[in-house]
Amino acid sequence: MWASGSGSNVENIFKYFQQNPLIKVAAVFTNKSNAGVLQRMEPYKVVFEIHENAVFESGAIDQTVAKYTPDLIVLAGFLRKIAPSTLLRFPNKIINIHPALLPKYGGKGMFGMHVHQAVYDQKEAETGITIHYVNAHYDEGAIVFQQKVALGPDDTPATIAQKVHLLEYKHYPEIIEKLLTDHE
Ligand code: GAR
Repeated sequence: MWASGSGSNVENIFKYFQQNPLIKVAAVFTNKSNAGVLQRMEPYKVVFEIHENAVFESGAIDQTVAKYTPDLIVLAGFLRKIAPSTLLRFPNKIINIHPALLPKYGGKGMFGMHVHQAVYDQKEAETGITIHYVNAHYDEGAIVFQQKVALGPDDTPATIAQKVHLLEYKHYPEIIEKLLTDHE
């Protein structure tokens, strides 16, 4: 799993598979040595891989990733572009979650609260999550799954974020499980 932020999805996914003998989170990769995910995952028995942005962006990370022979590379709030060499080396194995209904509210700079603020500003009647394969362009890879949630006049960027996080916690582990099971 790859994360740059607080890592609540990482923790949720890790817990979901904790009792599963067939599916294991091999390591948590981050590009930020002070990312919340490190503190959050400290109590769990999980391997951390902390590397500088340049290591991810140049593709130098590929060797390290390959050591784990991953069936799936799961991004959860990982905010750097994936290097072309990484995409080539792990084809159809990298997925991401976006906190909106792509293609709306995607692209560079659209992450976390920026997305929820934009959805709020546009007075959208709904938002949701998108789980997609990663390609060379931000938020443009093939969509695997989307789920909507309704918004009302009382919603704020903070409540929108909460609603979206709940969708993420429910569906991301299930979709990961499905992709890994379908692969076998
Ligand atoms: C999640 O809501 C995820 O969808 C979003 O970052 C958050 C990370 O939260 N990703 C993006 O915005 C990608 N463009 P977390 O660190 O608590 O899991």
